[in-house]
This record gives sequence, C-alpha cells and structure tokens, in this order.
Amino acid sequence: MTGPNDPSRPTTADRARSAFLDRFGEAPACVASAPGRVNLIGEHVDYTEGLVLPFAIDPRAAIAIGTGTDDRSVFVAHDLEVSAEYPGAPITVPDPSPDHRFVNHLLGVLHAAGGTDGKPLNVLVTSDIPMGAGLSSSAAVEVALGAAFAAFFDRPADHHTLARQAQAAEHEFVGTPCGIMDMLISAAGIEGKALRIDCRDLRLTPVVMPSPEEAVVLIVDSGVTHRLSDGGYADRRESCERVQAVLAGSLRDASIESLADADLSERDRRRATHVVQENARVDDAVAALEAGDLRELGEILLDGHRSLRELFEVSIPELDCIVDTAADLRDEGCFGARMTGGGFGGSAILLVESPSIETVRQTVERRFADAYGRTPKSMIVHACQGVRLES
Ligand code: GLA
Repeated sequence: MTGPNDPSRPTTADRARSAFLDRFGEAPACVASAPGRVNLIGEHVDYTEGLVLPFAIDPRAAIAIGTGTDDRSVFVAHDLEVSAEYPGAPITVPDPSPDHRFVNHLLGVLHAAGGTDGKPLNVLVTSDIPMGAGLSSSAAVEVALGAAFAAFFDRPADHHTLARQAQAAEHEFVGTPCGIMDMLISAAGIEGKALRIDCRDLRLTPVVMPSPEEAVVLIVDSGVTHRLSDGGYADRRESCERVQAVLAGSLRDASIESLADADLSERDRRRATHVVQENARVDDAVAALEAGDLRELGEILLDGHRSLRELFEVSIPELDCIVDTAADLRDEGCFGARMTGGGFGGSAILLVESPSIETVRQTVERRFADAYGRTPKSMIVHACQGVRLES
C-alpha cells in the first residue's frame, strides 16, 4: 500500500493543489480532504438502524475545485489519469459512459448539494486510499467534494449533511445501496478515537482508542477487489428488509427469541441472527475499550468475523486465512482480527500489541503467501481527523 505516513511525501491535498495548477493553469479556489475508514465492529447493521464503531484512518482523498473556464466543466481523477468534460455547468444526471464511472460519485454530490447555479466548475481528485480494498475510498472523495463545494459556494454543511449528500450520490448516481457509516465517519472522524454511531438517530459517541504505544491496528488487504454494486451487498440488504417486513419492525428492536418465532427462511434467519448479535457486540466492544481490556476486544472481533463468515456469508477464503492466522497468534501479541467493511473481498484488520507488530505482520504475510502465492499489502493505521478544508 502507498505510504501515507511517509513525511517526505507531499500530502494528498498538496498533490491536489499542484495537479490542479498544472491542469488548469491557475490555483484552485478551495481544497478539502477526507479520510478512508475501517470499522472495528458493527458490520452490515448500518442499513437497519444498528450500531457501528468505525474510525477514520490516515490515508486521505483530496479535492481541488475552481470556476470552470471557457464555459466548460472538467472533472479530473488525477491518479487514474481519466477526465470527463461537459459544456456549461456539470450535468445533473448520471453520466452513462463506462469510461466515466468515477465522475458519477462527483456529479451525485454536486446534485445532492443543490447544484452550481448554472456555473461551470473544475474539479480535480487525488487519493492515497487504495481502491477496492474496502477502506471507503469513494466515500472519502464524496465527503471531500461536499466540503470543498460548501466552502466555495458559501453554503455551510455540517458533518451529517456531508454524509447524507455522499450517501445520496451513491444511491442515486452510482447505484450502490450502501448505509451511512462510511461517509459519516469520513466526515466526523476524531483523532485518537473511534465513533460509536447509532444509525437510528445518527448520534455520535467518541470512544478512545488504545494508545499507539499499547496497541495498533494493522490492515491487511486480501487483494480481492470488492465492488458493492455487484449484487452480494444488495442481496444481504434485501434479506434484512424481508425480515423487517415479517417482524413489522426494525431489526434493531429484534431479539433471538423474536426471530425464532417469525416465519423466515433459514437463510434470512441466519442473516438476521448476525445483525441482532452484531449490535450487541458493538456495545461489548465499547465496554472493552473503555475498560482497556484488549484481550476481550480481540475475542469480540474474532466472534464478529465468525458471524460474518458463517451466518451472514460475506467473507472469502483469503480474508479467513488472514483472520485464522491472527487467531493462531493470540499468544504472540495479536489480540484478534476480523474482516472489515462490506466483504466479498477487501481488507481484514488485526489488533496487535505494539511490540509484536512486525512478528505478527510477517507471519500473516508468510502464511498468506504460502496459500495464495502472493504477499498481501498491509499498513498500520491510526484513528485520524475526518474531513477538513485545506485552504
Ligand atoms: C459497506 C457500506 C456500509 C456498510 C458496510 C457493512 O462499507 O458502504 O454502509 O453497510 O459495507 O457494514
């Protein structure tokens, strides 16, 4: 993975600023950046009013914007070396071109934010968040654009508004029926803290993460690219919705007993069981963090993974290999691990006692390489600040 922690490397926002200047011959009017995320626990529950516990991570996406020149709007994904152009103001419907997939994330945010009043706009994106690794690279771009746009057009937007706009872009322009966790943590992340998000009322409760001297979170990327619009995610969401229709209420209020009594397919019952137990695990994880009990937290992460693998069926063998290795290293400084994000690929997180990090990392990489013939990319991450204006 790229090295966002490398101090000699220009920041993502600096890269956006100078690439904008190169491309458009003038400095951008506004630059904003927003981070990717990992979710500690609380998976596949945000779209049924559940509880999640993500934190914002070091790698960021940055957006530079300015007024369009020559009555054209130009969108540039600098790292992908692709661009899209429109006469006049940005279009207010999704761009159907398969070459312009990236632009719908941006057009969707502009639309949700109320449009540009007919003004042409130049937008340039750079990112240090690996794509397809399940670290919410898209949400970060959308949240950063929302913030840059709000500053440029002087239409103030709070974290919740930025998150809702980003989610609307995903639903209406990209076609991904995601929850709100990714964008809300990218907007509202706090340095050194995870956020317990109650997805029923969107209340945010900061929870202190272990100090870096004590424990760190290692991300290991399975290298299997996941795309949430590919169907497995929507299928899981539909299962949850079917269960809610039978229960005539939210899964947030369900219990194992109420599921046992309901007329459900065995598969929907399994998936709903994951949701009910996962919500409870989030508060158990918060309690473990507050008590400084990292062994307990590690066990909760492992339980969560088992549930995603066996009940919710969104893990893959590559992620299981990483998590199983981590579980075997419990006596050697690894507290626990689980896949993070929507699944079907993406990354696993490992909670590791700081002095043991290199031993654990090497063992996980070696076992993965033995099984799959390639070394997975990995990166240590910290809980970081959410969206910010950079100029
Ligand atoms: C993806 C979605 C989120 C959430 C997770 C699973 O990251 O974007 O809204 O549903 O999957 O917890």
